[in-house]
Amino acid sequence: MEELDKDNIPRHVAIIMDGNGRWARKRLMNRINGHRRGMEAVKNVVMASRELGIKYLTLYAFSTENWRRPKEEVRALMSLLGKYLRSELTLMIENNIKLISIGNIDNIPKDEKEVLLNTIEKTKENKGMVLNLALSYGGRSEILDATRALADEVKKGELESSEIDAELFSSHLLTSEIPDPDLLIRTSGEMRISNFLLWQVAYAELYFTDTLWPDFNKEELFKAIKEYQSRERRFGKTGDQVSPSEVDVL
Ligand code: FPP
Repeated sequence: MEELDKDNIPRHVAIIMDGNGRWARKRLMNRINGHRRGMEAVKNVVMASRELGIKYLTLYAFSTENWRRPKEEVRALMSLLGKYLRSELTLMIENNIKLISIGNIDNIPKDEKEVLLNTIEKTKENKGMVLNLALSYGGRSEILDATRALADEVKKGELESSEIDAELFSSHLLTSEIPDPDLLIRTSGEMRISNFLLWQVAYAELYFTDTLWPDFNKEELFKAIKEYQSRERRFGKTGDQVSPSEVDVL
């Protein structure tokens, strides 16, 4: 396989992991088996991202809408999350990976919440890569919460509404500590954003693949980055105005 340009690896990759159910159905298996295989794909893709030098990886592990799924499936997804975190802690520490999460984790069952908070605590000093799990996350409610917080500040007289700009708004989002995604990947042939990082993907390159999430691996990630590297990111400018060094600071 052709080499990747090491100087143009997307700093932040976000992934909508879709197709676990279809992967299982194709094999006449229960959907939960698809999620189990999806968890294996998560393990591989996290390590592959670390090896490729990606600095931030955000995975859409559970949306606010996913609570509406059958109870057993929700329970299975939560239990897989706990299992994943328990089994990967050592590897995260060995590979200098810091875990963070965005979303309303108050809804996460007690045991899984505990292991999540424990993993966040134990990896908080790591600097090699940030693994950000979107859990019980929804983009619109994140934007609404930021809007409410800003409105409260204006009401209290701490802020003028004219001072609200994109930077200030971003700083009120759950992702305030991390840069916006450069590349958004969605698996399984669906071409929607599904309430994921609505504000943050404003300038992201979008990559859709028919591959179902359990089949997504290092090679597939490599292909997505290759495609990313073949695109010209213009941020609203003309092609002539954009030089690679300029893109770095945007
Ligand atoms: C979409 O497949 C996937 C999810 C709803 C959740 C993603 C969960 C995992 C990859 C497993 C565990 C995660 C971690 C972080 C350990 P789908 O069920 O919507 O598939 P379908 O559209 O084919 O039905």
